[in-house]
Amino acid sequence: MKYPRNTRSARLIFPFAAMLAPALLWHAGPLAAQGMSGKTPAAVKAMQGSAMKTMEKFMAMPADKQKAYVAQKQKESMDRGEAAFKDTRLGTNGFSCATCHPGGKTTGGSIPMGMMQMPIPSLQGVAATFPKFKIGNDAVITLADMNNNCIVMFLNGKPLKTDSQKARDLAFFVTGFSQGVPYSPGKEAE
Ligand code: HEC
Repeated sequence: MKYPRNTRSARLIFPFAAMLAPALLWHAGPLAAQGMSGKTPAAVKAMQGSAMKTMEKFMAMPADKQKAYVAQKQKESMDRGEAAFKDTRLGTNGFSCATCHPGGKTTGGSIPMGMMQMPIPSLQGVAATFPKFKIGNDAVITLADMNNNCIVMFLNGKPLKTDSQKARDLAFFVTGFSQGVPYSPGKEAE
């Protein structure tokens, strides 16, 4: 953990920030509850403005252009997600997701965890089982949280911010292994 060097001024500012925070959060309104936590009210306002702009731009396109635009954006995300899945620099031990889950399947191996061996699951259909309870987290977690579990536990890496583009791209790519699988949140890995 890194702390700001200037802790004295941080100590002075903090009480004011703490007093202001509830007022600012109230001002930010319901958006703050929609995964935009941690954003300043000004940033939330900016996001509202930019969302309106992109929607207007999109609505001005002819229908076939709209379709192509969505397809293009999704392809870009899927491609980045695939690259992240195969990226040995996501962690620090030379592994990538594909080392254990090649092509979204499993090597068939298992990982020693304390006293037990943990089988490496296939990721076919996995997105259809999230959110679900994970013992290690002692909580119900999302697919993006689970990807982070593997980054931390098996790649010796730093978890991605779950609302970052990279985490979303990776989750999108992993979700791609679940095409057509009926949704059954909470189902355990097979
Ligand atoms: C060293 C091997 C290894 C690597 C590398 C690895 N995993 Fe895993 N993965 C596992 C094991 C073992 C489990 C079972 C852990 C559990 O269920 O808590 C698992 C579970 C998962 C699950 C949940 C499966 C389920 O049905 O609940 C997902 C999703 C997943 N991995 C994605 C990834 C992604 C994405 C990466 C790369 C960031 C990755 N894994 C890297 C070994 C690995």
